[in-house]
Amino acid sequence: MEIIEVLQEASRLVYENVKNLAGTEEAMGDFGRGAGGDISRNIDIVAEKTVLDYLRKIQFDCEVLGEECGKVELSKNPKGIVVMDAIDGSTNAVRGIPFFCCSLAFATEAKLSSVTDAVVTDLSTGDMYHAVKGKGAFMNGKKIHVNIKEPVYRIVCLNTSGISPSTIKKIYPIIEGSNHIRHLGANALELALLARGLIDVHIDFRDKLRITDMAAGYLIAKEAGGYILDQNKEPLESEFGFDKKISFIAASNKKILDDILGKLQL
Ligand code: IPD
Ligand code: CA
Repeated sequence: MEIIEVLQEASRLVYENVKNLAGTEEAMGDFGRGAGGDISRNIDIVAEKTVLDYLRKIQFDCEVLGEECGKVELSKNPKGIVVMDAIDGSTNAVRGIPFFCCSLAFATEAKLSSVTDAVVTDLSTGDMYHAVKGKGAFMNGKKIHVNIKEPVYRIVCLNTSGISPSTIKKIYPIIEGSNHIRHLGANALELALLARGLIDVHIDFRDKLRITDMAAGYLIAKEAGGYILDQNKEPLESEFGFDKKISFIAASNKKILDDILGKLQL
């Protein structure tokens, strides 16, 4: 079985196990703080257990870095690291807002640039996005690409939850110059929509995102032709670990990227 097929099957099983749970009383059960620092909800725990049980069942030689469970060694001889945000967009999932996903990535070394395989499954629809390094990005098996034209409406996703006044100042010209700002609440799925050509820019400069929120969406957006830079306008890179926080700007094409970068007050 190829690595990408392992991630796809794990993700499909998560969809089966949580599709009727979102928005229910049962979904919100409190399991205390997970490794990533947020409260683990029952829906997060069910989803993570699904992935871990499957990887154990097929004896996949890996280490897992999960948002709730932290680091779990599944083999003494790991081929690499599975980076798992079994539910990205947990708030949406708990409240029943249909925008949350399962985000799984595989990396050969503990850094973003070593991610070789990625799967993001929209857990409301079952739509599955995947990418393998150097082989492009796909939605339900069909190749996808970022938007390369100037869109009729330029959609800018901007994460402002808990943002500081100094960060608002840096991005203010973008806010002022955008007529269509969105924040949908699941970073990995927002990057998948950018990969698919539905979103043109996605910015999160809050220094709050974790590697688990980012790893799969990063590869899918890049393989679909997108640009992803850090807050210093350098190609995004991060080592794995919950002490590392990520800020980034993703853009669908060079013209839009240059336009947005020109507006940033860094
Ligand atoms: C969250 C989502 C959300 C972002 C938060 C993340 P989670 O992931 O990606 O869009 O604003 O910072 O924590 O907690 O639902 O896995
Ligand atoms: Ca999560």
